[in-house]
Amino acid sequence: MAHDNKLGIDTLAIHAGQSPDPVSGAVMTPVVMSSTFAQDGPGVHKGWDYGRAGNPTRDALEGCLAALEGAKHAIAFGSGCGATTSVLLSLKSGDHVLVGDDVYGGTFRIFDKVLKDFGISATFIDMTDPIKVREAIRKDTRMIWLETPSNPMLKLFDIAAIAEIANKANVSLAVDNTFATPVLQRPLELGATMVVHSMTKYLNGHSDVVAGCVMTSDDALGEKLHFLQKAVGAVPGPFDCYMVLRGLKTLGVRVRQHVHNARILSEFLAGHEQVARVIYPGLKSHPQHALAGRQMKGPGGMITFDLKGGLPASTAFLKALRIFVCAESLGGVESLAELPAVMTHASLTPEARRDLGIGDGLIRLSVGIEDVADLRSDLEAAFVAARAAR
Ligand SMILES: Cc1ncc(COP(=O)(O)O)c(C=O)c1O
Repeated sequence: MAHDNKLGIDTLAIHAGQSPDPVSGAVMTPVVMSSTFAQDGPGVHKGWDYGRAGNPTRDALEGCLAALEGAKHAIAFGSGCGATTSVLLSLKSGDHVLVGDDVYGGTFRIFDKVLKDFGISATFIDMTDPIKVREAIRKDTRMIWLETPSNPMLKLFDIAAIAEIANKANVSLAVDNTFATPVLQRPLELGATMVVHSMTKYLNGHSDVVAGCVMTSDDALGEKLHFLQKAVGAVPGPFDCYMVLRGLKTLGVRVRQHVHNARILSEFLAGHEQVARVIYPGLKSHPQHALAGRQMKGPGGMITFDLKGGLPASTAFLKALRIFVCAESLGGVESLAELPAVMTHASLTPEARRDLGIGDGLIRLSVGIEDVADLRSDLEAAFVAARAAR
């Protein structure tokens, strides 16, 4: 189905980019595993010639992804990091990128350990004040890169305000929308040039695929990213594309349940005497609670909190959980808990972690869609274990 902007996101998630298979009538998109495609004569084919350049299952996924973010183009990659790197390869040596200070550790690593050697420089700044963004733009700045909500501190950045600044300065704006998903936030509608996702997270939603994507309505950029997808080759396999397509069908219901559960647990945590602070955009105590209300349709399924008692307490807490699994990643149906200082954000320097407030007691929860009463009981039992370890 070609995408129709008038349809709701839950309808698009199930139908966009997909129609019953013309050969068999199969309602679900066939997984086309072939790496090569027959040609009627040299250069004469049905739209696909080689699996890295294009694949029918990947095309269906890209059609659906474009519709979900309201984009003209979607380009799928073999991981979120593959998507990020491919976007940044659209820059040239000598270009500068302004990056939100609280990005995923792997994104920081791409800037800090990979692109630096190719002459692409980056400055990391807190983007909560858009004026600071305007002041930090340099003559050689070509792109602004931000995550909102950010990882793991759940800071929010004002996409519309930063997009206006970026447009005036003729700089592109990339928004990593992994935490929010298009169900809660659509950055292109707010003026961003492109949206990036780790589809490993909510879009696939079942913790069984690693994949990424970029969506944009800029034709030149879309063409360039399709070229980089083919030329660099960080492509997802056809089965992974099928799995993400399948996961996307329940994106809306999943995300709404994640938000429902996270709201309840954030309030429970905020009232707990072993918790020093809770960071959740849905709480009035969140510094950008008002922006969350304007920019997002819901505060998301991620909660970060500071447990009193430092490393002994946080380690005991994570070990005591029975339903929450102590693991990296997020956005799956199952609840996960992790310690960013030791796990997802270990690639940051200790100074960067300190500046961001990522201490040894900081725990990040990816709240799943289990029965919320069970999740709450699980946390309660872990608090008992953490108290004993202090
Ligand atoms: C916000 C965000 N962006 C990008 C990535 C990288 O994605 P992937 O692990 O699929 O390469 C992650 C991974 O955790 C992430 O959390």
